[in-house]
Amino acid sequence: MATFSLSIDRPQDVSCDVLALPVFKGGEAGPGVKEVLAALDVSLADVIARTPQLGEISTKRPTFAGELGDAIAFETLGRLPARSVLLIGMGERAGAKGTVAMKAGAMVARRSGGASSVATTIPRAVKGGTDAVVRLFVEGFELATYRYQRYKAQQNGVPNVVETVTLLGEKKWNARALRKEVDRAQVVARGQNLARDLTNTPSNDKSPESLAQEARRIAKDTRLKIKVFDEKELEAKGFGGILGVGRGSPKAPRLIELRYEPAGAKRTIALVGKGITFDSGGLNLKPGTSGIDWMKMDMGGGGAVLGAMEAIAHLKPKVNVWAYIATAENMPDGNALRPGDVITQYGGTTVEIGNTDAEGRLVMADAIAYARERGADVIVDIATLTGACVIALGNKVFGVVGEPRSETRKVLDAAERAGEKAWELPLEMEYLPVMKSDIADLRNHRSIDVGAGATQAALFLKQFAGDTPWVHLDIAGTAKADRDEFENSKWATGSGVRTLVEYVLAQG
Ligand code: BES
Ligand code: MN
Ligand code: ZN
Repeated sequence: MATFSLSIDRPQDVSCDVLALPVFKGGEAGPGVKEVLAALDVSLADVIARTPQLGEISTKRPTFAGELGDAIAFETLGRLPARSVLLIGMGERAGAKGTVAMKAGAMVARRSGGASSVATTIPRAVKGGTDAVVRLFVEGFELATYRYQRYKAQQNGVPNVVETVTLLGEKKWNARALRKEVDRAQVVARGQNLARDLTNTPSNDKSPESLAQEARRIAKDTRLKIKVFDEKELEAKGFGGILGVGRGSPKAPRLIELRYEPAGAKRTIALVGKGITFDSGGLNLKPGTSGIDWMKMDMGGGGAVLGAMEAIAHLKPKVNVWAYIATAENMPDGNALRPGDVITQYGGTTVEIGNTDAEGRLVMADAIAYARERGADVIVDIATLTGACVIALGNKVFGVVGEPRSETRKVLDAAERAGEKAWELPLEMEYLPVMKSDIADLRNHRSIDVGAGATQAALFLKQFAGDTPWVHLDIAGTAKADRDEFENSKWATGSGVRTLVEYVLAQG
């Protein structure tokens, strides 16, 4: 990761390879834009009008207009200590949110390839205040430099070799507070990049046990308590959901428990993640057109919990955090669950299998029931749970369902502060009857099609949370990006890590 420092030098006085200046549509976003351009004998209007003559053109549009995503770089030819100036488009000033600060940081990283020193002003007039803007800017920068290179013979595709980033601030800024924000941003970005690495790993090199190994490494590095339930213990304690889903695979399932328990903590938050290391659908095999080719990412929720726990262990909030990753591989061999089978979940609830591809809720139900029994004050679960959520919200916004709604609100607010987009879906009890079975307590798949698939999955999970406050994040859409853009690289995004960390920090 880059080394960040804070400075109150004026942009026009700083020597660096790249001097980055965020610009709103129609005006500067930070100090120094006018002065820098004056030293270069141009005005911002000139730059906008003369972009094609001045240098690199954004691939998306012919001129620089300050739109979010616009960027233009030009040499200073000795007129300034900085070797080049990079203008970053921030879009509309009115109503600019934290996500914009994150995207600005990401753009600076993406457009500074080849530079070793970068100095940048920090956008003002963004919702959240300076501390949040600095944090999000740094997170965006670090996340945008992520590449998954494990299987590439040549590791030289890493475009970003930026060594130092100087954040240009103002005298009135509280340097100590901002330093903390920078450090925190790097810790959180590292956790999110860990989640990305785990999620990008192909399923032939990934298994419930390999996730457990990763959890053991995190526990050792950060002094978390860990317990891994293997298939024998799962059997002895009656984790019928996790075992049932894992039955069709030679790779045995696991329940991974990590515990962060600082002295003096009063409350306990449980984070529960779905860790399906490959979702073939089971006997209800996914057709080739259903995205089966990226179902290695069906442990994105579990990966997010592991990444968040690593960050939480470093950031040390004063609240207990227990993590449960319910992990199995969903495969269709001769031992696999059949449609029509009845399993017994942890705690005794029986479930008729309507569809073996609705496996996520089965493993999650066991872990939620366990977290509740252990006495968690609140349960937050995260899962790539339903295609229906992708249809409703696409791949930029994840779904949030919970009860009571005051708790759901806390998660939505945390997402906003963390620069993630989230939207609430209803926990509509009128849809529960279709999740009832003729012969068991519940069915894992609707008996008649009433739509609202994401809500139905959530209603199923809710039965296991009981009256413990519970919030469910459906990241089926957001766990994967389909191209390199701003803070995300194609494939695993690490969706949810920042929201989970922000939610936890706000309680401790
Ligand atoms: N892992 C999938 C959900 C999913 C779909 C994640 C698309 C990412 C992208 C989940 O296990 C699943 O198969 N869900 C089914 C449920 C259905 C059978 C009730 C679905 O959404 O189609
Ligand atoms: Mn499935
Ligand atoms: Zn799944």
